[in-house]
Amino acid sequence: MLVAATGVSFVLLSLLYSTAGNCLVGGGCGAGLCCSAYGYCGTGAEYCGTAAGNCRTYGCQAGQCCSQFGYCGTTAEHCGGGGAVINPGGGGQCWGAGCPAGTCCSAHGFCGNTAAHCGGTGYGNCGVTGCGAGLCCSRYGYCGAYATHCPYGKFLSRKQPASLEGEFHGEATYYNETMAGSEYSTCGTSRTRSLDESNEKIYTAALNEVQFDPYTVDGIPSTNPICQKKAIVKGVKGEIVIRFVDRCHDCKKGDIGLTYDGFMAVAGELGSGHTNIVWHFL
Ligand SMILES: *[C@@H]1O[C@H](CO)[C@@H](O)[C@H](O)[C@H]1NC(C)=O
Repeated sequence: MLVAATGVSFVLLSLLYSTAGNCLVGGGCGAGLCCSAYGYCGTGAEYCGTAAGNCRTYGCQAGQCCSQFGYCGTTAEHCGGGGAVINPGGGGQCWGAGCPAGTCCSAHGFCGNTAAHCGGTGYGNCGVTGCGAGLCCSRYGYCGAYATHCPYGKFLSRKQPASLEGEFHGEATYYNETMAGSEYSTCGTSRTRSLDESNEKIYTAALNEVQFDPYTVDGIPSTNPICQKKAIVKGVKGEIVIRFVDRCHDCKKGDIGLTYDGFMAVAGELGSGHTNIVWHFL
């Protein structure tokens, strides 16, 4: 009994520890835990991994394929035989090359939309190839209709994803974009490219996964239409225009990640690495 109670309080403590504060600012995480690019403590690739070798989770720049080892590129090693970029024919190689939207890669590597192609669980690459109608791509790249594949019940219930209209109240968390993805963001934009338009400063930001994920098409994050959207964010210190180029794992609905410059512009100081904001899409 005592053991059980101690176990429960340990779980609660770990949960509290992992959600309180921003570990990028506040001295890191406890033993065995890693601090994610978004300032949350945890274990596993989302926290301890680097973006390199992780494209099955994060996707690739438009036009690139994710290799079986999780690296982006356009060679045969990344895209399957022939080096084609998203080979529309499949030709028995779609495990690596991908399939056109709306079709699936069969167990034998051919594209199609029959039950034989799209049924059952996938083969670990649907971030590139997509899944059949009614199926979702899990974060590890497998097609299916279960909660782990469709965390928001989007396809199961045929419900519309959350509206993009209106004012959102939440927290901005300071995130380190270098840790979140090396050369390219979740949206496939080069991090060296300035976003500024016609003398307007546009800060890069990360949208929480709850609001981002339902709009991801065929499991490829860089095709998510939210990647084209800007937003206005107001904090205690100021107001800025942002563009969402990343996806914040762990941020709750209404929360966003801001890089150092953006965070300082709305909050005035780094403080705890969290600050209250109000924001809306433009
Ligand atoms: C972000 O992370 C990188 C790599 O760990 C580090 O070199 C850099 O100083 C960090 N940036 C900030 C603003 O802390």
